[in-house]
Amino acid sequence: MAYLNKYLICVFVVLQVVPYVFSIKCWDCRSSNDPKCADPFDNSTVPITDCNQEKGFSHLPGVRPTMCRKIRQKVNGVWRYFRGCAYLGEVGIQGDERFCLMRTGTYNIFIEYCTCNSKDGCNSSSLFSPMPMLLTSLLLASYLFKKIL
Ligand SMILES: *[C@@H]1O[C@H](CO)[C@@H](O)[C@H](O)[C@H]1NC(C)=O
Repeated sequence: MAYLNKYLICVFVVLQVVPYVFSIKCWDCRSSNDPKCADPFDNSTVPITDCNQEKGFSHLPGVRPTMCRKIRQKVNGVWRYFRGCAYLGEVGIQGDERFCLMRTGTYNIFIEYCTCNSKDGCNSSSLFSPMPMLLTSLLLASYLFKKIL
């Protein structure tokens, strides 16, 4: 009986954490359509989209968006911002989403990718801060596991 209880608590914890990881909502905009998409971000006119509802890409069969991304690019002196669900790549730099990946190309091109998955709408800010939500649930889960195992 006690064993069953432990089992049920484990299942409960996993069910709590798993949907949180596999469904994310992201701000979805481009600054060429809506200037509020730029930094500082203003969410008043920008839609937030459930990445689970996205159709995906035919050239990426089976790949689902599990992250949010903000792209900031400067081409010939003009800044453009894009926000949306992210299909590929990794969060931040080595998993730390406070950091963004930067690429400098030829022809006066600068691109910065900020990828995150810590919480819904995490691609809002210009300053990517580590959001404690997921960390908290993971810590809580490991605490519970330690207690019951
Ligand atoms: C939109 O931005 C405001 C002000 O920063 C914030 O309080 C609010 O929670 C944001 N809305 C959503 C849906 O995140």
